Formats: sequence, structure tokens, C-alpha cells
Amino acid sequence: MTSHPDPAEIERAAAILRAGGLVAFPTETVYGLGADAANAAAVANIFAAKGRPQNHPLIVHLSDVAQLPLWAADIPEAAQQLAAAFWPGPLTLVLKRAAGVPDCVTGGQGSVGLRIPGHPVALALLRAFAGAAGGRSYSGVAAPSANKFGRISPTTAEHVRAEFGAALDWVLDGGECEVGIESTIIDLSRGRAVLLRPGQITPAQVAAVLGAEVGAADAAAPRAPGALDSHYAPRTPLFLVPAAELQARLSALRAKKLAVLARAEAPEGLHQVHWQEAPRAVAPYAHELYASLRRLDALGCDAILVEAPPPVPEWQGVNDRLNRASSD
Ligand code: TXA
Ligand code: MG
Repeated sequence: MTSHPDPAEIERAAAILRAGGLVAFPTETVYGLGADAANAAAVANIFAAKGRPQNHPLIVHLSDVAQLPLWAADIPEAAQQLAAAFWPGPLTLVLKRAAGVPDCVTGGQGSVGLRIPGHPVALALLRAFAGAAGGRSYSGVAAPSANKFGRISPTTAEHVRAEFGAALDWVLDGGECEVGIESTIIDLSRGRAVLLRPGQITPAQVAAVLGAEVGAADAAAPRAPGALDSHYAPRTPLFLVPAAELQARLSALRAKKLAVLARAEAPEGLHQVHWQEAPRAVAPYAHELYASLRRLDALGCDAILVEAPPPVPEWQGVNDRLNRASSD
């Protein structure tokens, strides 16, 4: 199965979710590690498999905006506007939780993260699961990225299998994730819109839909622990280096075994350096980023040097992930 859902596989995966199992599935951002969001034991297994602290809230994935009022209370007009503009798609909305929302997915907070993903396999799975759940109201799939806590998110089914082996009940293979970095998270639980995690959808795009500025996270913002430093990290020390300083850093580290990820061709006469050329434009750069970091990490180098992309708004999501991956 690539980006087109195979009905028999979808049915099987939905049945596993219904029975309380764990299913990894593709979304347009990264692969998710899914469980029935209303089944506390199943959700606990996500935390155990990932090695993730229990109080971290999870994003609940839905297939239809009609499900929104089951999960969220006091839904502001802004949420409807953003849902209409960007769902299905790489945007997560943090809203006030509805009364019956299970604590296991909110980390005990007063808010809940919700998203309708755009990948056809994810949507088919979510629809099959909601259908199979019959009249049961809380038919959402809780899914963090399908990686061990603190490590690089997976953008292929192979990445998921390599990291979890037999610990998962099923991995749906939907090919490479198009976007390549996790969804933009916007908090709407406290009045004005606040950016909790940058992604492909920029604050400017969100502001254009709302006709209002998007704020930066402040101390009172809901905890988004996935936005911790030292996340998305390879095992090899990674250093983010301004383009103009790359040559000097390479010379200074001459004695070391190095890998480089840069939006430029390898200079002439470079030895002992594994140079990987990255796409110049942000969309293909983000699409390849995590696979590239995994590949470079596997080389067993002393360090990975990443040429810093431009510090401009379109690159905010990518720059955020590179900063968290860096050892500086
Ligand atoms: O693209 C994505 O969002 C992927 C795919 C699988 O949908 N999922 C993902 O999940 O990145 P995860 O768990 O790796 O990151 C979710 C982030 C975490 O930083 C979490 O703390 C935050 O969302 N989050 C979830 N619910 C929240 C809430 N109620 N309040 C604040 N932050 C929340
Ligand atoms: Mg994650």
C-alpha cells in the first residue's frame, strides 16, 4: 500500500484499534503511533512504547469536523475558520476540552489537541475506526509521532519498523510523508490565537484567515512538552553552522569524521567528509529532512554539521526542528 488505502488493510487496522492495540499509520506530516483515544489502557501502551512521560498530552485525530463538539467546549469562531481553511491538513488546534474527554489524552490539562490529517490512508483509517465504533461518541485516534521519546520523527514505514520492531500490532505503509515535519500547533483555548509549534502552515497564513495576529507562546500557554529543547535529535552530535562559517568549521574539525547537510554543492577537494546536498526550497527540504538526519546519523561520524537555513518565516518550522536537534 502506498498513498492509496487498501480497504482490507484499513479494516484490519481499524479492528486492531478497536481491540485496544497500537497501529502506526502515515499522515501527511510524519507517521503517527495510534490508539483508541477513549481507551486508557491502549493510550498507556503508547506512552510505554515511546518511553514518553505520562503527563504529555496527545493529539487526537478525527475524520470529520462534525466530531469537534464531542471533544471541545466553547469552540470559538476562529477554530471553525481555521478548520475550514486547513483541514484536512497539517494543523493542530488546541481547544478547551469537552467534559467527557478522557484524561489520558490531555495529560490532565483543561485543553485538548485536535487534528484532521490530510493523508488518504490516515483518513480512511479514521473513518473506518469511527464507523466501527458504532454510536460510541469518542471515536478519535490518539497519536504522537511514531518515534521513541526525544528522537527523530519517522517519515517512512521503514523508519517506524526500524525503531519499534515487534512492539507494534500493525504498521500501515503509506509511503513517504509529503510534508516531513510535524503539524503547526495553534492554541485557541485562551481567546487569541497563539503559536505553540511552528510547521509548514505559517503564522502569517493563520493570521490571514483569522484577520488577527498570531501570538508567540508565553508562560501561561498550555504546556506543549513536545516542544522541549533536545528533541528530534540524532545520536551523533549535530551543529547548526551559518553558511559563511561552514568552511572554517570544516577546517577546524579536519581530523574528525564529518557529515554535512548543506543547500550547496560539495566544494572541490574535500576529503573524509560525507557531504549531502539538500534541496534549496523549504518544502522539499522539510520533506527530506528527517530521512536525511537518520541517514547521516547512521554513518557513525563524530559530528553532523548542518548549514543553517535562512532565518525567515517560511523556514521557521524547519529551523525550529534543527535548533532542537542541535547540540549547541
Ligand atoms: O504532525 C503531527 O502533529 C504528528 C502527526 C502524527 O499527527 N503528531 C505529533 O504528535 O507530532 P506528538 O505527540 O509527537 O506532538 C504533539 C505535540 C506535543 O508537543 C504535545 O505536547 C502537544 O502537541 N499537545 C497535544 N495536546 C496538547 C494540549 N492540549 N495542549 C498543549 N499542547 C498539546
Ligand atoms: Mg513527537
